Formats: sequence, structure tokens, C-alpha cells
Amino acid sequence: MGKKILVTGATGYIGSHTVVELQQSGYQVIAVDDLSNSTEKIMDLVSKISGRRPFFEKLDLSDEPAIRAFFAEHSDISGVIHFAAFKAVGESVEFPLKYYRNNLFGLINLLNCMQEHHIGHLVFSSSCTVYGEPDKLPVNEKAPVKKALSPYGNTKQISEEIIEDTCGVSDLKAISLRYFNPIGAHESGLIGELPIGVPNNLVPFITQTAIGKRSKLKVFGQDYNTPDGTCIRDYIHVTDLAKAHVVAVKRMLENQGESRYEIFNLGTGKGYSVLETIKAFEKVSKVKLNYEITERRPGDVPKVWADTTYANLKLGWKAEKGLEEMMASAWKWEKNLASGILEQI
Ligand code: NAD
Ligand code: WQD
Repeated sequence: MGKKILVTGATGYIGSHTVVELQQSGYQVIAVDDLSNSTEKIMDLVSKISGRRPFFEKLDLSDEPAIRAFFAEHSDISGVIHFAAFKAVGESVEFPLKYYRNNLFGLINLLNCMQEHHIGHLVFSSSCTVYGEPDKLPVNEKAPVKKALSPYGNTKQISEEIIEDTCGVSDLKAISLRYFNPIGAHESGLIGELPIGVPNNLVPFITQTAIGKRSKLKVFGQDYNTPDGTCIRDYIHVTDLAKAHVVAVKRMLENQGESRYEIFNLGTGKGYSVLETIKAFEKVSKVKLNYEITERRPGDVPKVWADTTYANLKLGWKAEKGLEEMMASAWKWEKNLASGILEQI
């Protein structure tokens, strides 16, 4: 049996894909989630893909007595991948304390328990949002962290600082992974992104419009200083992203890190505009998308894409899947959702 890895936020979008990759790499997974933005049914679908059901417990990391009781039962954990957090940028502006409470208390409780039980390896979900509007593109890990544009973004910046400070005074080793724009779904079509209510992000909005759940996609602005006037992002396939977590865990468990705390960008290194993304979707789905150009969305950065040199070199990891593969997998998942994949469990 492989080493035990605790995955928090395991029934969520990126967490569920990472559980599959961990299992397929021989690790034992202990999965926890408070199910505030996901459903336990995802564990059934994960089991269908991997052929093995991970241990799952419903746990709110911000509940200190509950997390203490959990660690008292499961102290033989070798490493932790911490996904659990609230992630809606707009909601965080409206309810900042909800975000600071959940995302920071959760992390602090987790770090306290890890210290008490001598669990010394952490992979943390960070975000390219910490770069704000970068001065230079592509953006590398040495670029300055800019003042956060939202409480959500600020929780990522503060979390990184909490982790770095803890690494400085304890046995903890940690890796923060700064994701660019994760999209797509598992090739099986059994797991994918599950937005509750109206999606904030581009790709679920595209697939929900194409399937008929939404009448029209709004393209937020065509007057940016980019070749076609729409914003540019570095979209990365969620499976490529999930694989990077397995590499990061292994790097720490095998003592290959160059310092106690490391940071890596996870992107493809290529930027695509909103219109290019729509075109790629139309090509693979053969569906003509109903969209209109509207006003800019406040707070949107015009263009950002990753310098992935450091991750490619040090992690020996590279994103492999292209934009069309990302869109095709997202579409397969949306069609499976429409045909009732979750209700049939
Ligand atoms: P998600 O909402 O699908 O998954 C997060 C999971 O955490 C959910 O299942 C939710 O129920 C759970 N959770 C929230 N608070 C919890 C708590 N207190 N205790 C236990 N579980 C809790 O989101 P995701 O897209 O999979 O994101 C995973 C992580 O990656 C988050 O930390 C997010 O901020 C970060 N991230 C996401 C993106 C993105 O675009 N999806 C980009 C950069 C960083
Ligand atoms: C992508 C592009 C929009 C919806 C967000 C968070 C960020 C990170 C990733 C967690 C932008 C445009 C979108 C729509 C559109 N999450 N768009 N119509 O804003 O790059 O990043 O998710 O850390 O913190 O802010 O992603 O998918 O919302 O937008 O035109 O209906 O699509 O303007 O240019 P974003 P997104």
C-alpha cells in the first residue's frame, strides 16, 4: 500500500481529479470535504474511474474541535493537499468575513493539527490572482505579489504568507501551486466542474449556454489592448493540473525540494482570448454559440499567462493537453450532466 495522503476539498472540481491521479499513482487517499460546494456523489464517480473507493469523511476544516477529532483518528498521514476553500471572487467582495473565516481558519486549524501530529508535507492551492495585473508577460514566480483585487485573492496571499512563516519555524515543508485558469473535465466524462447556480467562470458558462441552460453568453468587453480586443488567459486542463499535485507530493516525500517552501506556476504558458476560446468550443462541439459583446466586467485583468519554465524544469512536469481537448472534455461532461449522470447514482 502506498503512503496516505489527506486531500481536503476532495469532492470539489480540482480535488476530485487529483484524488483520481493520486490513486492511479498508488497513493492511499483520505478525502475530506464539508460539501458546501460539492456533493458526496462525486466519490462514487471517482471510484468508478479508479476502481477504488477512497475513505471519505464530511469535515468542516474551520470547525476546530471537529478537525482535532479527525486528526486524532488519522495520524498516520504522510502529506496533505489542501484544496478546501471558498472561491467565488464576487461573493468574497460582498461577504469578506465569510471568506477570511473559512479560508484562513481552515488553513490555520489544518497547520496546527499537522504540527501536533508531525505531518510535515503540504501542497497548497494558490492562484495566479496573486500577480494582479503583471508588469511583464509571461509572468514568473519572482514577479511581485500585487495588492489583491478581492478578499478571495487576499486569502490566497495571506495563506501563502502563513505557510511560508510556518515553514520557517517548524518541520513543515510546503509547496504553493499558483494555478492559472483550470478548465475541462476528466476524459471519462464522469467528473468535472459543478458550478452551483449561475457560473462565474467562462467555460461552464459556455457549455451551459450550448446545452440550453443559459440563453446567451456575455463576452465581457472587446476594447482591451489585445489582438482581438478580448481578455487573454492561460487555460490549463484540470487533469494536467491534478498530475502536478502528485508530482509536488512526491517531490516533498522524496526530499527533492530545494528549500522548505517552494512556489510554482501551473499553466500551459500560452494565452488565449475569450473569442479564441469560443471558437475552439464551437469547432469541437459543432454547436454555434449564442453570445454578445457587452461591457467590461469590473476587476478583470486584460491579459495574463504563465512562465512555466521553473515548474517544467524543477518539477519535471509540463501541461500536455491543448485548448481543443480542454473544450471537448468540458462539453462531454456538460452533456453527461444533462443526461442525468448525478441523478443516476
Ligand atoms: P471547488 O469549490 O470545486 O472545491 C473546493 C471544495 O472545498 C468544495 O468541495 C467545498 O465544498 C470544499 N470546502 C470549502 N470550504 C471548506 C471547509 N471549511 N471545510 C471542508 N471543505 C470545504 O473549487 P476548486 O475549483 O476545486 O478549487 C480548489 C482550490 O483551488 C480552492 O482553494 C481554490 O481557491 C483554488 N483555485 C481554484 C481555481 C479555479 O479556477 N477553479 C483557480 C485558482 C485556485
Ligand atoms: C475568464 C475570461 C472574463 C465569464 C477567475 C478568478 C481567479 C481564478 C480563476 C481562483 C475573462 C471572460 C468570463 C463570462 C466572459 N480563480 N468571461 N464572460 O476571471 O480569469 O479568473 O477564475 O483563484 O481568481 O478571478 O476567470 O473564467 O471568470 O474569466 O467574457 O460569462 O472570460 O472577462 O476575460 P478569471 P473567468
